Amino acid sequence: MITAIHPIKPVTSTRLADPCVMVIFGAGGDLTKRLLIPALYNLVRNKLLPEQFAIVGVSRNKLSHDEFRSKLRQDIQEFATVTVESSLWEWLEQRIYYLGGDFTDSKLYTQLQTLLTQIDQDYHMPGNYLYYLATAPTLFCGIISQLGSAKLTQETDTSWRRVIIEKPFGRDLESARTLNNNILGVLKEHQIYRIDHYLGKETVQNILVFRFGNGLFEPIWNRRYIDHVQITVAETVGVELRGDFYDRTGAVRDMIQNHLFQLLAMIGMEPPVSFEADAVRDEKSKLLRAIQPFTPELVLNNTVKGQYSEGVVNHAIVQAYRSEPRVAKNSSIETFAALKLDIDNWRWAGVPFYLRTGKRLPKRVTEIVIQFKQAPSLLFRNLTNQLTPNLLTIRIQPNESISLQFGAKIPGPAVQMGAVNMDFCYADYFGSEPTTGYETLLYDCTIGDATLFQRADNVELGWSVVNPILDVWQAHNQEFPNYAAGTWGPVAADELLERDGRQWQ
Ligand code: BG6
Repeated sequence: MITAIHPIKPVTSTRLADPCVMVIFGAGGDLTKRLLIPALYNLVRNKLLPEQFAIVGVSRNKLSHDEFRSKLRQDIQEFATVTVESSLWEWLEQRIYYLGGDFTDSKLYTQLQTLLTQIDQDYHMPGNYLYYLATAPTLFCGIISQLGSAKLTQETDTSWRRVIIEKPFGRDLESARTLNNNILGVLKEHQIYRIDHYLGKETVQNILVFRFGNGLFEPIWNRRYIDHVQITVAETVGVELRGDFYDRTGAVRDMIQNHLFQLLAMIGMEPPVSFEADAVRDEKSKLLRAIQPFTPELVLNNTVKGQYSEGVVNHAIVQAYRSEPRVAKNSSIETFAALKLDIDNWRWAGVPFYLRTGKRLPKRVTEIVIQFKQAPSLLFRNLTNQLTPNLLTIRIQPNESISLQFGAKIPGPAVQMGAVNMDFCYADYFGSEPTTGYETLLYDCTIGDATLFQRADNVELGWSVVNPILDVWQAHNQEFPNYAAGTWGPVAADELLERDGRQWQ
């Protein structure tokens, strides 16, 4: 464990969120009760919301403001990440309103306009509205176009209008482009906040500080010193109650195109000229654009897909993917994917990036491992089998940490080497207060900082990398299932690295 001589105090922002009304479409759904309201509650605790703040939940059911408030009052007890203090909750609760109706009916938007005007007057607000689309993706375009027709997206010199859109953002390049074009017909790019909740994770944000806030790492962050990079997002859960969604989606669309590519971009991008949103997003796009395109041959050689059979996870027998509720009995959807990517630029030429993600793996872990090149073995000719490569491991979850592995002499008269770790653990330094991961994202949107959100081109570039993989996979039948739940995926995923003389960490 590393200890600090001077305790490091995190610098907290004192700027309050802009006065605004947050309108949540799909307010009756899981996301609202599990993540959005608990995140807003945490922002209240951290004193980041201004007096002039309100929430309007919009959903299909007919509920009164009070019925909605009392539902959320019960939900927050179950889903808050900390014990709920009644005075803080009451502060938030009295700012919650509800509107029930059909998202496709223009009347709903007229009623919304009346309600928003009323709230603006009551709270002396400037007319800033943040719309959160927590609905099925099929509704995104319709809602935005209705908001546009009702003039609810029009900004003025003194008020802003922003829209947060949840993933999935399209299901391939073409649909993502269509979605972007449709939305951009109503909104300007600066009004659109495409959320990827991985960017709300503290450790993911820390990658930028780690890389660019220290003089030590960036000089060796390139092909001269790095042998390869591994990114693993492993989950123990199956598809739970999302079988119908997942069986149309699969691991590449659900995880790789967005979450893993965000991690890849943070690790691989060039230093941005500033932390302005577009400067960061420009660099991410450049990195994604530099990924060597997947030809059919590369797809066959450098990608692996898998689907789990019955097995044991966390000491419990779990069923095969094809037996999960709302999944086709002969499904050919992948619950595991591994890829080897090459990035064609000066920094990374010749440094493979291995990515893998899967459901029903032996443990839940999200980790980036950077393996440095071996030291020349000249001095340790007799000990070459003991020489260990230096590994820098960035653990995103759980137990957020960064550790550096290096070789050390094992005490004793003979020269023997072993691998040791220098560990920095977030909880030891900064304490660990559980959060939902949405706090920063919601707060950033209210202050107009889009750095942690995806721009249209970022999303489309992600799709353009994975599209050829999906096409080739679709054309080639793979025998499924090909890994048992509770194992690290198909054997082919290990072989992908073994062929290069490497192995998954
Ligand atoms: C979601 C995926 O985006 O991310 C889920 O749709 C997945 O399938 C989840 O389980 C993983 O998120 P986290 O934060 O638990 O790693």
